[in-house]
Amino acid sequence: MSSIPVIAIDGPGGVGKGTLSRLLAARLGWHLLDSGAIYRAMGLAAAGAGLLKAGQAMDEAALTALARDLPLRFAEQDGQTRAYLGADDITEELRSAEAGQRASQVAVIPALRAALLQRQRDFRRMPGLVADGRDMGTVVFADAPLKIFLTASVEERSKRRLKQLLEQGASATLAQVETEIAERDRRDRERSVAPLLPAPDARLLDNSGQNIEETFRVLEGWARDTLGEFFCCQ
Ligand code: DC
Repeated sequence: MSSIPVIAIDGPGGVGKGTLSRLLAARLGWHLLDSGAIYRAMGLAAAGAGLLKAGQAMDEAALTALARDLPLRFAEQDGQTRAYLGADDITEELRSAEAGQRASQVAVIPALRAALLQRQRDFRRMPGLVADGRDMGTVVFADAPLKIFLTASVEERSKRRLKQLLEQGASATLAQVETEIAERDRRDRERSVAPLLPAPDARLLDNSGQNIEETFRVLEGWARDTLGEFFCCQ
């Protein structure tokens, strides 16, 4: 068991995990792991290598080998985290619906998930880590002192995701986003390894009726209860 504290924040897409994790990490001065970005980069790399062809079974051994050597790197630039796959800046591409779908496809492969474990655990550095994903509390940081599982209805999450896409200049309809979210939810929940499920000791929150500030206050309160010592000097 590591003495470096982790707050694990899990839940389906569109629940606000990314924003909330970023806010909490900033509040505490801790590191941040966006594990979805690693799976998204893996999905893009797999598609780029011609390993995700429609109607063809996935070559799990080749995909796992790619995961082991994935040339992914994150760099802080002007207060923003940018992602590079080899020499290519994939920061914007990572946020696309296609990257999300590709990520969810490759994420069903147990050996590939195992190959990405250490890369995620390496983010656990002093003074602490806020980790955002699907299996942070159940698998990657099963010893985290605080585990949070967020949910919200499909309708609510789709509206939030659509707003985000439109703000980024993408074009999409609510029906398209709902279909995409429901499909990813089903795949993430039904996979045999590390399915999207709350850890038995996770704190659950349905934030359907809440805005980000309201949910953040709840999470901050839980962090203060569980990890009060880390708030001592701020
Ligand atoms: O959180 P996100 O939308 O960026 O994640 C994209 C996909 O990656 C998600 O549909 C499933 C997969 N994923 C995963 O399997 N495990 C994680 N810890 C994070 C993401």
